[in-house]
Amino acid sequence: MSEPRRVLLGVCGGVAVYKAAELVRELQRRGAVVRVMMTRAAEEFVRPLTFAALTGHKVYTSMWDLPAGQTAMEHIEQAQWAEVLLIAPATAHTLARLSAGLADDLLSTTYLATQARVVLAPAMNVNMWNHAATRSNLETLERRGHRIVAPGSGYLACGMTGDGRLAETEAIVQAVLEQSVLNPASSAPQPPAQDLAGETVLITAGGTREPIDAVRFIGNRSSGRMGYALAEAARCRGARVILVSAATALRVPEECEVMPVETAEEMHAAVLDRLPQATIVIKAAAVSDFRVRQVAVTKLHRDDPPKIELQPTVDIVRSVVEKKAPETLVISFAAEMGLDVERARKKLLRKGADAVFLNDISRPGVGFDASRNAGVFLTMEAEVRLPESSKSEVANRILDQIVLLRAGRAVAQ
Ligand SMILES: Cc1cc2nc3c(=O)[nH]c(=O)nc-3n(C[C@H](O)[C@H](O)[C@H](O)COP(=O)(O)O)c2cc1C
Repeated sequence: MSEPRRVLLGVCGGVAVYKAAELVRELQRRGAVVRVMMTRAAEEFVRPLTFAALTGHKVYTSMWDLPAGQTAMEHIEQAQWAEVLLIAPATAHTLARLSAGLADDLLSTTYLATQARVVLAPAMNVNMWNHAATRSNLETLERRGHRIVAPGSGYLACGMTGDGRLAETEAIVQAVLEQSVLNPASSAPQPPAQDLAGETVLITAGGTREPIDAVRFIGNRSSGRMGYALAEAARCRGARVILVSAATALRVPEECEVMPVETAEEMHAAVLDRLPQATIVIKAAAVSDFRVRQVAVTKLHRDDPPKIELQPTVDIVRSVVEKKAPETLVISFAAEMGLDVERARKKLLRKGADAVFLNDISRPGVGFDASRNAGVFLTMEAEVRLPESSKSEVANRILDQIVLLRAGRAVAQ
C-alpha cells in the first residue's frame, strides 16, 4: 500500500477556502488522516473551528500562540508528521512565499521544514494567475518537484471569467493519492527512464523568418521553448537528438546536434537532409505559411511603400511523410485559436502524420511565447488531454505518448 495516509492540509486566504472543507471530507473518505494548518488570512474567511470539527483535531494557525500543553516546535512536529503537504487553496501570496523560501508564518516555515511530498492547488483571480510573477513562482515550485494541480477555467468569484478557479476536488485528491510516499524507492529522485535509447529524434523548433528585403522579415512569436524542451527531454531519455532550429534566443541544449536555419525553405532542406537517420520526427517549429514572392535585395524605403505579394511556403510535414521510412513516426504540432479537435484530426489525416499535438494559443500565458503549455495529443484513434504545466513537463508527457505509439499500443488516457 503506497498511498499517503497522513495529509497536512495548508489552507490560505482565498475565496475558495470553503472548498477545503470538502477536500478534508474526500481525503478522509479515501482513508487519509488529515490535519489542517491555516494562514492568518485564511482565518479571515473561515474559522478554524470548521476544520477542527471535520478532522477531530486541533487546527494549527500560528507559531506564536502557545496554549498550555502545546510544544513550541509545532512547525517541526507537523512537518515531520506529514507524508504529503497539500496546500489548497494556494494563494498567489503563499506561492510567492514558498518560491522565495520565506519562513514568516507557520505554513511557510512548515513547508521549509518538511520532507513530505508537496502538492499545490492554486486558486486566484485570472490576472493574478497570468501575472509574470505568479508564472515564475510556479515554475520555480514545479522545478523543485512539487505537483501543481492547475486551476480550472470558468466564472470566478471576482466576477471575471478565465483560469484561476480551484481545481475539482477529485483532481486534487487524485494528485495527493498519486504521491507514493510509503514507497522509498519512488520518493527518491529517479534517473529518467531510457525509453528512447536507440531512437534518433529529429526535432524542429523556433519561428522561421521569411525575408521581405535586405533587413526585414515576416516572423512569428514562437520562442522555440517547446521544441527545445522536447530536445532536452528526449536526450535525457536516451535518444540521439537532431535539432533543426529557426530563430530563438535559447541556449543550445547539451549533447544535441543543432542545425540553425532561418527560412521555411532552409528548414525543409535541413529536415530532408537528416530524415534518413531519423526514427522519430517532431515538428514543433512555427513555420511561416507564407513567403514573399519577390524579395528586395536592398532595404526598402518608406517613401515608396511596396505591395508585398505572398505565396505559400513548402509543406514540410507533407514532404517528410512522403519521403520517410515506413517505421519512422511523425508528430506534428497545430497551434490554433481554440481547441478544435475534429479540425486537427482532419489535418492529421490529410497530412498523414502519426499524431498531432494541438495547442490553444488563445489562452494567455500558455503556448506561443510562454513558458507553459497545455493541449491535446491526438492520434486517429485517441485523444489525450495534457493539462497545463511547464513546457518541460508537457515535453515529457508528449514523449510518453510517442513511446506508447512506438510500442504499438493504444494511446492510454
Ligand atoms: C475577498 C478576498 C478574496 C481573495 N481571494 C483570493 C484568491 O482567491 N486567491 C489569492 O491568491 N488571493 C486572494 N485574496 C488575497 C489574499 O487574501 C491575500 O493575498 C493574502 O495576503 C493571502 O495570504 P496567505 O497567502 O497567507 O493566505 C483575496 C482577498 C480578499 C479580501
